[in-house]
Amino acid sequence: MAYPANRMRRLRRTEALRSLVRETHLHPGALIAPVFLCPGEGVRREISSMPGVFNLSIDQAIQEAKAAAALGLGGLLLFGLPEHKDDQASGAWDANGIVQQALRAMKQERALDSLVLIADVCLCEYTTHGHCGVVQQQKKSSATFTVDNDTSVALLAKTAASLAQAGADIVAPSDMMDGRVAAMRTALDAAGCTETPILSYAAKFASAFYGPFREAADSAPQFGDRRSYQMDGANLREALREIELDLGEGADMILMKPALPYLDVIHAARTRFDVPLGAYQVSGEYSMLQAAFARGWLERDRARLESLLSIRRAGADFIVTYFAQEAAQLLG
Ligand code: PBG
Repeated sequence: MAYPANRMRRLRRTEALRSLVRETHLHPGALIAPVFLCPGEGVRREISSMPGVFNLSIDQAIQEAKAAAALGLGGLLLFGLPEHKDDQASGAWDANGIVQQALRAMKQERALDSLVLIADVCLCEYTTHGHCGVVQQQKKSSATFTVDNDTSVALLAKTAASLAQAGADIVAPSDMMDGRVAAMRTALDAAGCTETPILSYAAKFASAFYGPFREAADSAPQFGDRRSYQMDGANLREALREIELDLGEGADMILMKPALPYLDVIHAARTRFDVPLGAYQVSGEYSMLQAAFARGWLERDRARLESLLSIRRAGADFIVTYFAQEAAQLLG
């Protein structure tokens, strides 16, 4: 039936009607806030390229976490800036590493019980060179370096087990080494953490949109780039293969990133795989919106929610976003 029998505008007339027929919803419980933990006490240092995002010492992070729990957020994604970096990333798998300490402290707080504490698993914040794995054949001229897959996987598996033992509810590998999920499952089980799920950043693209994060996490590679392990942004079919392999290795859930420039990939993954699927609205997506808000070029509240809604509509069950607290306030 066509116009005039059909008038699409009938159901758009009032907010009550629009609300009744809305297909996609955002709720605070589906939002996860990243947290950047740093050494010290009373430290709350704003990231210059990410206004509103801070490096937090553990005491400050606990305050932030309590506020997040009060807002009904689904969880936190924890990153650490260690005291020392070295070529074995020892700060990542040290039982007294910064994230391990934070997890133990957070698990003492009953007020945080409603939050899922997700520990990012990667080496880039902990290596002197800033790559996500162990670098071999490092020369002054960077062209010849390689990030060795299998030695990296061994350290990543050790890291995952250590984070789970410290209290992580979920471990989330973001390194993009091959075979890390299987190795982590084995290491977790051997450590008695058979109930700890793995959220694999299965499809993670080598993206310019991670720029501001590398300031926040102090993890910019000192030479070369990440294109020998993160995916080429041109490849959708390869992303689906990555996901399939990670699920085969035992991943319980998958995370896609970035989000906004890769909505088609999120949608394709949603259509193909029946597992919980998250998307990460990454630092550059946040910074570009903040920059536009600061200039008055975009309406803050509307643009923020629209960007999150589009990610949900594409198929993400939950979203990791630096807007989590602000969005939860708006939705509340
Ligand atoms: C660590 C990691 C990165 C991000 C999440 N985990 C950085 C990178 O791969 O360079 C990016 C998140 C963001 O940009 O907000 N490997």
